[in-house]
Amino acid sequence: MAHRSALLNVMVAAAKKAARGLVRDFGEVEQLQVSKKGPADFVSAADLKAERVICEELRKARPTWGFRLEEGGIVDGSDKSHFWVIDPLDGTTNFLHGLPHFAISIGVELDGEPIAGVVYDPVKDELFAAEKGQGAYLHDRRLRVSSRTRMNEALLATGIPFHGGKEHQRFSAELGTVMTEVAGVRRLGAAALDLAYVAAGRYEGFWERGLKAWDICAGIVLVQEAGGLLGEIDGGRDYYRSGNILAANGGLHGALGDLLARAATAPAGSGAA
Ligand code: IPD
Ligand code: CA
Ligand code: CA
Repeated sequence: MAHRSALLNVMVAAAKKAARGLVRDFGEVEQLQVSKKGPADFVSAADLKAERVICEELRKARPTWGFRLEEGGIVDGSDKSHFWVIDPLDGTTNFLHGLPHFAISIGVELDGEPIAGVVYDPVKDELFAAEKGQGAYLHDRRLRVSSRTRMNEALLATGIPFHGGKEHQRFSAELGTVMTEVAGVRRLGAAALDLAYVAAGRYEGFWERGLKAWDICAGIVLVQEAGGLLGEIDGGRDYYRSGNILAANGGLHGALGDLLARAATAPAGSGAA
């Protein structure tokens, strides 16, 4: 991004500072895989540390703004309009298993709506940044969603509900319906990157239910600014609050919504639409 705004510069600096610690800790985690205790406690400490570093940096730059934090909850500021929305480590399960696919996600909410976002993948050194009305970028390259509009050529991303959830049946029906129509479905395990990849045209679309504001705030701005469409999986508009999100290029968004709606009526156990 040739002339990044002051706001995005602050976000990028915070993400990069926290990333240095995360990458060091990721190196440790790879060693800890073979230890008996495993790396779980170590990873939650790394997560908290990254959140602390990000908050310190952002607070220095905008002392009056509030925070919505995955780890620390809501912290009000004297400015009631602006919030930082932060996931210090998106892709925790990957990180925990030594799988190099995770990111730091920093978004900005103005009066409840996402207006800026940075998603940084420190292992691949990929920096995605977008601000409302200013475009979406991967480093200096302007991003556009993909132009593929044939369903049978579409590569999609999704998220599988975690164990203990009650959503598996519905998810299986959705996957069963979608996979018979598209070129492929990926579950890479970091929703912020899934959205960034839709913005970058790597995926034609992404759907997942039950996401939180910190998973999607930054990614929403990336997709919007790359010319993509967003909605709730069931067709509503309140995807940021409900966390049920369908993001896709404009040529496929409607058809994907129809396909997922068909899944709701597919007979149990049937993969077919
Ligand atoms: C998770 C990842 C994952 C998604 C989950 C999220 P976390 O975030 O984004 O891809 O499927 O719903 O909770 O826990 O790794 O920060
Ligand atoms: Ca997350
Ligand atoms: Ca997280």
